[in-house]
Order: sequence, then structure tokens, then C-alpha cells
Amino acid sequence: MNGNCEYQGVGEAPKKDGFAHFMLKEIYEQPQAFQKALQGRIQQGQVKFAELNLTREQVKRWDKIYIIACGTAYHSGLFGKLLLEEFLGVAVEVEIASEFRYRHPLLNENTLAIFVSQSGETADTLGALRKAKNSGATTLAITNVVGSTIAQEADYNLYLGAGPEIAVASTKAYTSMLIMQYLLSIYLAQVKGTMPEQKKAKILTALQELPEKAQQILTQREFYPEVIQKIKNVQSLFFIGRVFDYYIALEGALKLKETSYIHAEAYGAGEIKHGTMAIVTEETPVVAVAVQKSVYEKTVHIVKEVVAKGAFVSAVVEEGDTEMQKWAHHVIYIPQIENIVSPILAVIPLQLLAYYTAVARGCNVDQPRNLTKAVTME
Ligand code: M6R
Repeated sequence: MNGNCEYQGVGEAPKKDGFAHFMLKEIYEQPQAFQKALQGRIQQGQVKFAELNLTREQVKRWDKIYIIACGTAYHSGLFGKLLLEEFLGVAVEVEIASEFRYRHPLLNENTLAIFVSQSGETADTLGALRKAKNSGATTLAITNVVGSTIAQEADYNLYLGAGPEIAVASTKAYTSMLIMQYLLSIYLAQVKGTMPEQKKAKILTALQELPEKAQQILTQREFYPEVIQKIKNVQSLFFIGRVFDYYIALEGALKLKETSYIHAEAYGAGEIKHGTMAIVTEETPVVAVAVQKSVYEKTVHIVKEVVAKGAFVSAVVEEGDTEMQKWAHHVIYIPQIENIVSPILAVIPLQLLAYYTAVARGCNVDQPRNLTKAVTME
């Protein structure tokens, strides 16, 4: 099944609107997608979801939260875990749907299970949703395709509104999922009364700045040719970062693998020392994400180490950063923004890196070999 079918009129082919590929078009549609994800959901300094009418008693009852998804959607769930644990004070587990559905998770009526799926038709995510429902958990879906099975079967559903995503590699749906993770975690904490107003105000202001700042990133094409030359013919490369930057690194690695067929792995920057450093050489470029201030120095430290092993390093940092350029061979700058949301911007250069590398290697960018847009069969 085509996960985007409801967006296309009968007989109407999706259009690239002058872009060489759907993936590039969808990367460039992110500012509008961000606006759609935010539209109507921030009112007078509060997060509002017309789709949710949760009471404080309901939210307080949840003593365990799961976020369950596959692939890129799973990567967005990692953000949800950190945000919910911090804002709501409840333990959150993020699980790969194909694993979750075949084990014995602790689920009951005090559990909230959140399912994230662009298509809303992914077989494993749907199987996990049915399992959670049968165990008495409250289920909440975050989906993009209107009327999908997951959207219909979950107790609650939040639409991303990112519009049709045709390229197999998810880009605008992913960043819209990230925005939704911020909005949802703030909303739940707001209902429960655990979110400091000042902190909420800062984050909501920053989320509203995202469309404009994403647009700035999309106009800065000068960063990519040099790094593409360095990575387009390698066998393998690594992405590193810490905390949110690590989750972005995971997404960057997946994007590069699926579009350009280069082997790529992501590590929490410190973890690379526990084995993988043995294969870091001049043959293995490293892409470092270092936009989180709280862990910035730690990531710089690992960058110095991989440079000493001979690796070419390209780093994504915030504008105004003067330290990283002393160590990394190549630096990509993103606009400054409230630090907790900066990783949403930092992933855009990684999407472009994957796209341009795939093009340079002559790959079938929109329809990579062996993959389908929605994995509706196990
Ligand atoms: O439609 P879904 O969000 O449930 O799809 C989940 C994954 O199959 C999907 O995110 C996949 O990893 C993408 N091709 C990544 O770009």
C-alpha cells in the first residue's frame, strides 16, 4: 500500500515542482511543514490540542510511558523520552515496534503507549498498538497520513500535517515528529502541572522561530560540496554526538545509508572509545553534531581524538562557534536558537549531506533499492 495515497487525487501524479527529486523537495518543504505542525497548537502561551481532552487525573495516573515506532519515527521517540522524563517526571521507554510486540512489556491501565508513524500503516507499529490496547494501556498515535489504520485504532491521534512524503527517506515527517514530541511533552506536563511557566515560554517561542531558521539553513548551500567530495567514495563513516545530538546522529547515519548505500553508524560520542575507535582511520570520515551546549566540550574532546587517528571530521555547530574550527576539517553552521530545540535544526544539514552524497554516487534517491515507503508486511 502506498502510505501517501490519500493525498493524491485520482490519476493525479505527485509533482516535484522543479526539484530534481522528491527528497530534495521535501527537505525544502520543512519550513511550511513546521508551520503546519505548530498551527493552532500554541495559544496564549499554552499548548492546545483540539484532539486531546485529557484531565489532570488521567495524566497523573500514568506511571509508565512507552514510545513505540520503527526507523526514523523511532528516532523521534528518543527525543520524546528525554522531554517527557524532564517535564513530566515519568519514566519513559522507547522501543522498536518489531521487538516490543514479541516480548512481555509491563502494560496496564496506568500505562500510556505512544505510537509514531508517518504512514500509519507500518505492520509492526500496528501490531504493537493492538498489543498495548489489549493490555488496557491508553494509546496515542502521532501520524501523518490522514485516515490511516494506526490513526483510527489508537485512542487518541495527533496529525503532523506535513503533507505527502513521497521519497522513501523520511525528512519533513521526521522533523515534524520532533516538533510534535516537544508539543506533546509540554502539553502533558501543562495538564499535570509540572512544567515551569518560564521554561515553557522559552521553548514555545523557540519552536515558533523554527520555520524561519530552517529557511536560513536551506539557503546556505556552500557548506556541502567539500564534504561530499570527502565522503562520496568511502566504504564507511561514523556520526557522533551526545544526548539530543546523538539522536540526530542516529538519524543522519540512517539517512546516509538508505540513500547513498554507504555504511554509516552513529555513536554517543563517548561510546566510540569503547571498541569502535579501533577502526577509526583516515579511511573513515566522522560527522560530529555539537549543538547542545551542556555536552559541547565533551564532543569537542572526542573530535580531537578522532582527528588524531587521521579521520576527516565535518562538524555541525551553531553560528558564532569558534572552537570547533580549530579541530575539525570542515564546519557547517546552523542559526542560533534556544538550545533545547537546536537539534531540530541540526538534522537538516545531515539530510542534505545524505541527499547530495546519494546524487553524487548516482543512486536512486527517491526509491532506494530494497526499501518501500511503508513496511506493511512483516
Ligand atoms: O511510516 P512509518 O513512520 O511507520 O515508517 C517507519 C520506518 O519504516 C521509516 O521511518 C523508515 O525508517 C524511513 N525510510 C526512514 O527514512
